[in-house]
Amino acid sequence: MARVLRGDLLAADLCRTVAEGVLQMQGEHGVTPGLAVVLVGQDPASQVYVARKMAKATEIGIRSFEHRLPEDTQEGQLLELIIQLNADPAVHGILVQLPLPSRFRADKVLNAIDPAKDVDGFHPVNVGRLSVGAAGLIPCTPLGCLMLLDEVIQHFRGLKAVVIGKSNIVGKPVALLLLERECTVEVTHIHTRNLPEIVRTADIVVVAAGSPRLVRGDWVKPGAVVIDVGINRITAPDGRSRIVGDVAADEMGHAGVVTPVPGGVGPMTVACLLSNTLRAAQMAHGEGECRQDELSSRRRSKVAAD
Ligand code: GUN
Repeated sequence: MARVLRGDLLAADLCRTVAEGVLQMQGEHGVTPGLAVVLVGQDPASQVYVARKMAKATEIGIRSFEHRLPEDTQEGQLLELIIQLNADPAVHGILVQLPLPSRFRADKVLNAIDPAKDVDGFHPVNVGRLSVGAAGLIPCTPLGCLMLLDEVIQHFRGLKAVVIGKSNIVGKPVALLLLERECTVEVTHIHTRNLPEIVRTADIVVVAAGSPRLVRGDWVKPGAVVIDVGINRITAPDGRSRIVGDVAADEMGHAGVVTPVPGGVGPMTVACLLSNTLRAAQMAHGEGECRQDELSSRRRSKVAAD
């Protein structure tokens, strides 16, 4: 049977480390890290995600500032709020939940966030830093995927990684992080031909396609590590609604490692957001510049040594 890699357990561990860092900041600088979360409109999934992020932030001692704006908010009003949050010294991280209602220019909104407070890592300055391997804030879901991989892979160099999905939020940054680990990376997307054949070449598969049970058992090489980023609500044959990933989990017996859905990447995304918020607060108070993904592998070495 494949090993099930529990993201919820790793996330709990990371949250404990972040909580210790928060206490340390309070002790050394008299500062409590603060996270502002902005939600426009009534999208039900976004409401659930935002509530989860805020609750976890509070639980580990991060101050959270919630800004819920009505559906008919104008882009200018949202930009005005971001300008205020950029200038607020109590706010170290700013997150604008996506998707925004379609009349907003998401790139304009994301570009307005101070890169030093961009805990989502979506600002072009942070995207650029990631692409040249420099220190910056790294998008939360990709960072969570990397931390999960760090739990089970010691030597990435030369491994073949296939990333399914080319989104700015997951696929592209995951590919850059795996390149930084010296994997041979192939990014696939909806127009890719022969996807099953390509996936069969992979030692590592990261799937963020938003397509329930897309990756079937016979696509996956025996022993491969499979990271399932998908969160899809489906109606099961018994008529009940349930959440499934982008991987046919019941067909993965021959894989080496698989992340579950729920309880895999999802909790890591939240934990990495809080870790990024702590890091943004530390940077604002003159603490070191080091890549979060390096911290992930250092953390792994420390655990191995302990
Ligand atoms: N919507 C889906 N994933 C994300 C994320 O990681 N950050 C934000 N801001 N919105 C999202």
